[in-house]
Amino acid sequence: MASNRTLAILKPDCVRKGLIGEVITHIQKAGFKVVALKMTRLTAATAGGFYAVHSERPFYGELCEFMSSGACVPMVLEKENAVADFRKLIGATNPAEAADGTVRKLYADSVGENIVHGSDSDENAEIEASYFFPKSEIVANLA
Ligand code: CMP
Repeated sequence: MASNRTLAILKPDCVRKGLIGEVITHIQKAGFKVVALKMTRLTAATAGGFYAVHSERPFYGELCEFMSSGACVPMVLEKENAVADFRKLIGATNPAEAADGTVRKLYADSVGENIVHGSDSDENAEIEASYFFPKSEIVANLA
């Protein structure tokens, strides 16, 4: 995948709060193009695989439980400098530390329930996108 893409997940708190449309609008107004999207529910094992890099962290169990607690909406987003610009748009992992106007500052309650995930590198964006979407389901690869 090219470096102009990132993988985002609207987390179960975002879905439960009825904020899917509002957060996607926020993302699109910032210039990101949605090139793949689905709604799904992770199992604890699937969530654990996605977040395997955090498996030694004390919050890993809580994270897997939360991410499998309801539906989520993974998306592939396209924009120049997508990974860095998306992380800027969503703000710090802990919403208490997120800058004004960021998605997490606006909508998130806590570091665990922080509305949205964004890839942290181009390499991980590609790995994470493939976790949810075969290449045939990414718009640029259709047609
Ligand atoms: P995310 O960007 O999805 O990547 C890893 C997630 O782990 C992070 O967002 C947080 O939601 C979660 N996380 C990080 N630190 C903590 C913590 N101290 N307690 C609970 N969850 C955390």
